[in-house]
Amino acid sequence: MSVTAIASSQSGTRPSYDLKVRPMDFEFPEDIPEFWYANDPFRTVLAYALSGGFPEGERFFIDSVRYFQDRIQDPELKRAIRSFIGQEGHHSKEHHALNEWIESRGYPVSRIHQDVGKMMRLYRKYLSPERQLAKTAALEHFTAIMAEHYMLNLEELGSMDPRMAKLWAWHAIEEAEHKSVAFDVFKTVSNNEWIRLSEMVATTFNFVTFTTLDMILLMRHSGRMTDFKMWLGGLNYFWGRPGVFRKMIPAYLQYYRRDFHPSQYDGREQREKVKKEYLAED
Ligand SMILES: [Fe+2]
Ligand SMILES: [Fe+2]
Repeated sequence: MSVTAIASSQSGTRPSYDLKVRPMDFEFPEDIPEFWYANDPFRTVLAYALSGGFPEGERFFIDSVRYFQDRIQDPELKRAIRSFIGQEGHHSKEHHALNEWIESRGYPVSRIHQDVGKMMRLYRKYLSPERQLAKTAALEHFTAIMAEHYMLNLEELGSMDPRMAKLWAWHAIEEAEHKSVAFDVFKTVSNNEWIRLSEMVATTFNFVTFTTLDMILLMRHSGRMTDFKMWLGGLNYFWGRPGVFRKMIPAYLQYYRRDFHPSQYDGREQREKVKKEYLAED
């Protein structure tokens, strides 16, 4: 199923949605090396920490958008919502399978899965549907910038075991494709700047805190907790040189602009390269 459309919004012409749902059925053979990501425990464990939270997180994203589905009139956005739900549903399923494999290798990602599940239940109970949607839009900004400023890079993907690289390339491509959907639904049904921005502040705090704690949990189980050289190397990679996360800060801050829209960053060229290389799509 593919959705390509040009639609107009209250603020003028909105760039086209270009979403394709690609069902997958990844397998994780036993001979994938323990540190399949650049032979680096830090980067491998970071990927595990993220994967641990995806299945419950993505279910929450789907529900928060679906809640407002009936209030959307724009047929192009309605179609994009259906594709968004399809994409996130498949991500959730594939990361669930990946998480079982990670667990079988002695990393307790099920604890992360359960903790994220508990947190999502609290959000569902105590946050208004509008705030839940704003939280989804904020987290979608995180996944979009991580896709477009980090993962959709042939050098980065090339440093992974190719069987893992395909999954991360696939997920990153679809995160970039649907980056505007939750945001556009929020803008259509609410457009409350206080809610949008305060949810981004809260989400940033939670995302950074819990990802760090989850990495510590997993690292303890890898027996590398006191490998300070590894920690320093990892922190340097993300915050020093090349500084993958440090370089993302300007893209992150764009979200706080009143006139921000996810489509303002055009990552199509890099996405096309990765699509061609990893999904054999032109
Ligand atoms: Fe996803
Ligand atoms: Fe997403």
